[in-house]
Amino acid sequence: TFVTVLFCKASTQCSTFFFFFPPSHEATIISGTELAKQIHKEVQKDVEAWIALGNQRPHLSVILIGDNPASHSYVKNKTKVAAAVGICSETILRPSSISQEELLDIIGKLNKDSKVSGLLVQLPLPDHIDERTVCNAVAPEKDVDGFHVINIGRLCLDQHSMVPATPAAVWEILKRTGIETFGKNVVVVGRSKNVGLPIAMLLHTDGSHERPGGDATVTIAHRFTPREQLKVHTRLADVVIVAAGIPKLITAEMIKEGAAVIDVGINRIQDPVTRKTKLVGDVDFEEVKRKAGFITPVPGGVGPMTVAMLMKNTVTAAKMLL
Ligand code: GUN
Repeated sequence: TFVTVLFCKASTQCSTFFFFFPPSHEATIISGTELAKQIHKEVQKDVEAWIALGNQRPHLSVILIGDNPASHSYVKNKTKVAAAVGICSETILRPSSISQEELLDIIGKLNKDSKVSGLLVQLPLPDHIDERTVCNAVAPEKDVDGFHVINIGRLCLDQHSMVPATPAAVWEILKRTGIETFGKNVVVVGRSKNVGLPIAMLLHTDGSHERPGGDATVTIAHRFTPREQLKVHTRLADVVIVAAGIPKLITAEMIKEGAAVIDVGINRIQDPVTRKTKLVGDVDFEEVKRKAGFITPVPGGVGPMTVAMLMKNTVTAAKMLL
């Protein structure tokens, strides 16, 4: 605006000014990195209090199959954050030639190991291994990913359960930012069983149930929703959550002024100028931030919050083992 232009000319502290008083047409950028730091502190305190009572330190076991670089990078990050908050961890590496039987055998041993409080198998798995069989082999009380059929079933019934980390991250971002969902229109773009579906479950369900939900009117869109139809839905939405894996799927014209846009997409693309690989989400960030009220960036949005929620789940699992 005119006022801000004048102010910027008069001040070398322009960036500070924008940080505290963004122009009215620019969205508040939600820092997942900062919110995650808060949760790390809370988890670390919780772990120390737990140990001070004479309990054993929470321990996270991660099974990593094959050499997918993205999976290796995610797992490295998970174990790094675990160490930072006082959770022990181990990564069990196996080649992609491992048989399903061998993998199930490792999971069975970790299920019985009293030192292990949380256990996850990094996905995706090689084609010859059935993902559902593997997820169901993890003991539900150690299932920090929340992918076991019992945990998914309990989530769908609004019962206490281990909530998958990415949906839990989206929930926590909305709550900690003060974004209202009661009676609001929410569109979830993406219907995957591990992300889109549980996000939609959390947000449409009853706020007074055992596991409180968001009481929103939720629409789930997916790959067969025609683009024009998707726009009809998103333009009515107060909150748009995108987990489709399609860069720039969501553009400014699809967003209602002032809406909250939560970008769960993680796409690795090559920058045409620098030729370096970079991470982008599913939202046209630069355009949408001029229209939305709140927006999460990629990287630095849902990603770090997901890891923080995994740590929270690991401490919950440690407490359930007693
Ligand atoms: N691969 C991508 N995201 C996840 C996740 O949240 N958990 C597991 N186990 N694998 C993943």
